[in-house]
Amino acid sequence: MLSIRDLHVSYGGTRAVEGIDLDVGAGETVLLIGANGAGKSSLINAVIGLVRTARGRVTFEGRDIAGLPSDARARCGIGYSPEGRRVFPSMSVKDNVLSGAVRLAPREQARRWEGLVDSFPFLAERQAQAAGELSGGQQQLVAIARAMSGGPKLLLLDEPFLGLAPVWIRQISAAVQRMRDEGIAVLMTEQMARPALRIAQVGHVMRSGQIRRSGRTEEIRGAALAEEYL
Ligand SMILES: Nc1ncnc2c1ncn2[C@@H]1O[C@H](COP(=O)(O)OP(=O)(O)OP(=O)(O)O)[C@@H](O)[C@H]1O
Ligand SMILES: [Mg+2]
Repeated sequence: MLSIRDLHVSYGGTRAVEGIDLDVGAGETVLLIGANGAGKSSLINAVIGLVRTARGRVTFEGRDIAGLPSDARARCGIGYSPEGRRVFPSMSVKDNVLSGAVRLAPREQARRWEGLVDSFPFLAERQAQAAGELSGGQQQLVAIARAMSGGPKLLLLDEPFLGLAPVWIRQISAAVQRMRDEGIAVLMTEQMARPALRIAQVGHVMRSGQIRRSGRTEEIRGAALAEEYL
């Protein structure tokens, strides 16, 4: 579904991603583990089109998307939840979530909202509240729910667990597993290997812009946990 070949990303003289090959199959949850500065966000941002790639190919469902602006990539079916909590602070929780679903018909939007409320019950309780008034963990969930609300075929989650209490990590994990049950592919980055290894099937360990280890999550567990303590 997503295929990345020989991807390079540089910022001036800094090489952030150096020749990465990575595939995400339909319905697969793929994990990218790496410490601070490994290049995880650079890779995700290259897929959604927020940074320019210096070299390499990114194809989605067989189509070369490298030349498309990020909104066109979203229309192809790629959902994106950036690192850190990014909400529209003065907009209500419900409007924030559904801002990811503006292309869908009202009935489909309502169906999406109900599904997301099942995963994250607090969304219903806080739906009319301004998102900026929520706790950090809740804002993160709103941002993730927004990425899910558009009905993506592939969801990019950049460090969804960052700074969150275990209760929120469990809710996000359950939601990701639910996405998989619905056949949605997920590419997620994390520094927190332990909870992330539970929800992915395949993983890659990234360091200094390169993939050092790849395999099924049970095969890379040791290498992924070692990366947490760098
Ligand atoms: N806009 C930028 N300009 C210059 N250098 C950058 C920029 N963004 C990232 N870098 C550098 O590129 C490298 C990879 O950064 P990146 O943010 O992709 O890593 P990361 O794995 O997402 O790290 P983190 O876990 O801290 O989010 C780092 O050396 C970083 O300092
Ligand atoms: Mg990052």
